[in-house]
Amino acid sequence: MRSAPLTLLLSAFLCAIGCSDGGGDGGEGGTGGAGAAGSTGSATSGTGGATGGATSGTSGATTGSTGGVTTSASGTGGATSSTSTGMDGTGGGGTGGGPSTPRTRTPAASASSLREAGEKANPPILIGAAISGGGLNDNRYKSVAAAEHNYVTAENEMKWDALEPNPGQFSWGAADNIVNWARQNNMKVKGHTLVWHNQLPGWANSLSGAAAVEQAIRRHIENVMGHFKDRINHWDVVNEAVITNSDTGVGNPRMRPSVFFNALGERYLDLAFQIAREQDPTAKLYYNDYSIDALNEKADFVYEMVKGMVERGVPIDGVGFQMHIGPPNNEAGGADVAANLRRFADLGLEVLISEMDINRCGGVVTAEEQLTYYHDIVAACFSMPECTAITFWGINDGRSWLNSWSGALCNGQSSQSLLFDDQYQKKATYNRVLDALLGR
Ligand code: G3I
Repeated sequence: MRSAPLTLLLSAFLCAIGCSDGGGDGGEGGTGGAGAAGSTGSATSGTGGATGGATSGTSGATTGSTGGVTTSASGTGGATSSTSTGMDGTGGGGTGGGPSTPRTRTPAASASSLREAGEKANPPILIGAAISGGGLNDNRYKSVAAAEHNYVTAENEMKWDALEPNPGQFSWGAADNIVNWARQNNMKVKGHTLVWHNQLPGWANSLSGAAAVEQAIRRHIENVMGHFKDRINHWDVVNEAVITNSDTGVGNPRMRPSVFFNALGERYLDLAFQIAREQDPTAKLYYNDYSIDALNEKADFVYEMVKGMVERGVPIDGVGFQMHIGPPNNEAGGADVAANLRRFADLGLEVLISEMDINRCGGVVTAEEQLTYYHDIVAACFSMPECTAITFWGINDGRSWLNSWSGALCNGQSSQSLLFDDQYQKKATYNRVLDALLGR
């Protein structure tokens, strides 16, 4: 469950990605042409063997630690479907192995903000933060958020209970405020989240019968994506559909019972992605989950689930790895994260770090480990062109969800989990993240 930080192994792994010449790879140095699953639903073919050498190495590690997961990349695929256009503004990466597919990301020579480091990298990478409506009432919060990030996830304001409190009645005000602020500051927005068992209004939670639940999913997705069309084209379509016996991702991974699963079975995921694709043929559509960050049982289960979706042609473009490290979720070292992200990318998908924070409460993660994890995990993502965004779950420690979350061991104390302190000063964690984004 707990992985030690393995910096040396990480270095070796990153070198393997950057240096090896796997069977399916087609070279490096290009800037365009993502090989992520096609945004028109042609995901099934995006499974070829880019980075074959590295992948076969990580496949062994995966099998060893989890008992039999096989990765799809054989190193023999060569060029595969590279039909999607890449993450907007990021150039995208590639798993297809075409001649223009970059195999690594080149860092900026220098940068004075995280955002600038992401924008100047080749290909660029989005640097995000969870933004709360309350935070936008604070000028210091707004100033740091906009200076350091170019990608926004609403922390709570786009969840089902906030947007559709009564059946078919929508409430857009709080979400619109965040989206408008983001656009004023040239930041992209990821819609979070269309179908999730949590933060559902009571009426939705008590629906029963396949027809009623399908109708509610359809109405919600159509209205929400319709409202934000032209302003949001990245969506967390389904969130946290898998559960284990512990929040750390260990013990009997299985589909989570929910109003959606209970009525429709696993097919509710396919349905949600298909409805979302009907709404926007070019949007990026993501599956998002916690404690799937490294090689563990839950990550293996989600890998097989997503692989099945890709093989069925479900229009999924990528997977968000929330990266909540420390209580109540998992603890993941950089090398394990790198191997895990790689196997998902080898399905032809984008991978994203979608909600990163590292909780110090309870003394489970030491100050030194926190710095190492921040650096090595960000570096693992940054090194992969298929890793298209890194989002931190908040701006400053004092506003972190962890401070008051049962199971986070904080009991109202600061989780010390983010990159800025309560006075919005940069912390050592900030410096280590910037180091990773600059290839240091
Ligand atoms: O809005 C009510 C307020 O009216 C009430 O007075 C107050 C009293 O407790 O609660 C407020 O609601 C809280 C809400 O955040 C808004 O602040 C809820 O109690 C609280 O449970 C809720 O927590 C959010 C949590 O999701 C709920 O699941 C956190 O802020 C938010 O950071 C967290 O975000 C999730 C991601 O969406 C998905 N991945 C995990 C991540 C962390 O749990």
